[in-house]
Amino acid sequence: MNPPKQRIRPVPSPAKSPRVPASAGPGGSDRIGRVGIIGAGHLAGYLLEGLNNCNLERRILVSDCEPGRAAALAQPWGAQAVEDNQILVDQSDLVVLAVRPADAIAACRRLRFRPGQVLASVAAGVPLAQLEPAVAPARAVRVMPISSAAINRSPTLVHPAQAAVQELFALLGHVHVLPDEDGFRAASVISAYYGWIYALAELAVDWCVRQGVPGEVAHPLVLETIRSTADMALAKPQSIRELLDLLATPGGITRHGLGILQQHKGLEAWTLALDGVLERMRQPPA
Ligand SMILES: NC(=O)c1ccc[n+]([C@@H]2O[C@H](COP(=O)([O-])OP(=O)(O)OC[C@H]3O[C@@H](n4cnc5c(N)ncnc54)[C@H](OP(=O)(O)O)[C@@H]3O)[C@@H](O)[C@H]2O)c1
Repeated sequence: MNPPKQRIRPVPSPAKSPRVPASAGPGGSDRIGRVGIIGAGHLAGYLLEGLNNCNLERRILVSDCEPGRAAALAQPWGAQAVEDNQILVDQSDLVVLAVRPADAIAACRRLRFRPGQVLASVAAGVPLAQLEPAVAPARAVRVMPISSAAINRSPTLVHPAQAAVQELFALLGHVHVLPDEDGFRAASVISAYYGWIYALAELAVDWCVRQGVPGEVAHPLVLETIRSTADMALAKPQSIRELLDLLATPGGITRHGLGILQQHKGLEAWTLALDGVLERMRQPPA
């Protein structure tokens, strides 16, 4: 028998987590009901951490194909592990499917859902046309959160609109409902872009350190700069282009560096990466 795989899991730190005042009130509203998460992996960990911040943990059930893994993930966040997926489905009103895309449909086909249940799939690239028949008579909804759900700051995509799903994920950040599935798929690419920003942040921190900037300055400096870009652009009425033009003045350092990026097709490479991920999401999950 193979030894269990070693994986890096989100490190539970309940003591450090801020308590987030849930708009639905402590413990969420009755519309959310009991929530079951199938798949005790990375994403489940982020969701549990964020839900623990708003006192919803007692309503959460977790299952995994390895029951010990579900128990290890659920316990620090005060959620309850159950031994198999069917028990979880039987005891949940809203089921979050958090297995890898290639496992999603097979996992659902083995389960019996009941009318009135909702399955929220976070599986990237698995379309409603496959989810709906696999979970009938439950309703299927696609959801795309990011790891910052752990700190209740995840912009989360939802399609189609569904009140309980929207209410649950609104506890973990800002919910964006997409009116059609093509738009949902394109917007989902931004969850990969989110990851690339970490790569860009690391590049700038490492560069600063090589130039002699102390690491304890470089790290917050770069990250605060990224955050302030977003905060400024969200706060101001101007478009992103207008804000950039205000910075990239003739003869200035911002314009100088942008010119070098353009000369080396640095920004074009990001468009190619966005296109590449969208194309990959159009293919069947591997
Ligand atoms: N990670 C993120 O930041 C993120 C963000 C947005 C969306 N997502 C989506 O979330 C899903 C999960 O991603 P992840 O990163 O959390 O993956 P992960 O860490 O690999 O976790 C998936 C878990 O599901 C288990 N599993 C597989 N088949 C199962 C089944 N039939 N019943 C119960 N458990 C089963 C896996 O066990 P084995 O390893 O033993 O197979 C594993 O423990 C993916 O579809 C991904 O597209 C992830």
